[in-house]
Amino acid sequence: MTIQWFPGHMTRARRQIEDKLKLIDVVIELLDARIPLSSRNPMIDEILQNKPRLVLLNKNDLADPAVTAKWVAYFADHGLDALPVDAANGNQMKEIMARCKQLMAAKFEAQQRKGIKNPRAIRALIVGIPNVGKSTLINRLAGRKIAATGDKPGVTKGQQWIKVGTEMELLDTPGILWPKFEDQQVGMRLAATGAIKEEILYPEDIAFHTMRYMIAHYGASLQERFGIEKLPDDPDNNDAVIEVMEAVGRKRGALMSGGRVDLEKTSLTILRELRAGKMGRVSLETPEDIPQDPL
Ligand code: G4P
Repeated sequence: MTIQWFPGHMTRARRQIEDKLKLIDVVIELLDARIPLSSRNPMIDEILQNKPRLVLLNKNDLADPAVTAKWVAYFADHGLDALPVDAANGNQMKEIMARCKQLMAAKFEAQQRKGIKNPRAIRALIVGIPNVGKSTLINRLAGRKIAATGDKPGVTKGQQWIKVGTEMELLDTPGILWPKFEDQQVGMRLAATGAIKEEILYPEDIAFHTMRYMIAHYGASLQERFGIEKLPDDPDNNDAVIEVMEAVGRKRGALMSGGRVDLEKTSLTILRELRAGKMGRVSLETPEDIPQDPL
């Protein structure tokens, strides 16, 4: 999906979510487990107000488990229940429902005190930036493929509820949020994970930043994957990072005539292998990387 965000789009996206919020009990906020903050909408708290919220750290199969554990603790410190999931695999669906029920427990108890014995199904809305896995999750929860048409411009249709077991209903069209792409670091991380598909950044730049991070945090995986004997001691040394990329290019046979390494081709290879999890489970940001706590 190609989405370009302009102020008008943002206002409309926000209004669409606010309209949906009136219909639902719980928001399921989908983030990319590899970059939980970079894949987060900057205005999310303002938009969601005080709706009960479950945070899902999706694509957990690709993220570093130790870093994901830190993120879960980070969100817990900020009063948010965060669950790592792998929507593509779909093995956490019961747990997602259980967590949503937990979020509603106080409301259900209040209803019971008022004499309402069988509360209606919990109504949930999935929100997240493009490509974070919203449709995949909806299909998994629904247990079938749901055609998504409602959020395309010019297409209007009534809201459809999808039954998830007997105790939950899901709005069939997710809320699409914009990422905070003003920050260059954030843009690089979004591009590295494939969240930004548009060719607005050069693959060489994305791969360079990714390599620098990998050298600093996942050196052993890098060495093993590409048979690199020695990595630079200082990942901030640009020339040394380029040398590592060139070594990868030679290893993968990405050469131009004359034997020089084709850096563009090498960069695309690096990014493809990273996104496919070929370099192991890699997270591209940790709670410690955040200079100022944004929450
Ligand atoms: P969206 O509705 O939020 O825009 O995202 P969507 O479900 O379309 O998912 C985007 C891509 O992410 C899809 O890949 C999907 O298979 C993949 N994906 C979703 N959940 C997971 C997960 O838990 N783990 C992994 N590894 N991948 C996941 P795709 O169809 O191949 O598209 P693309 O990769 O070519 O964009």
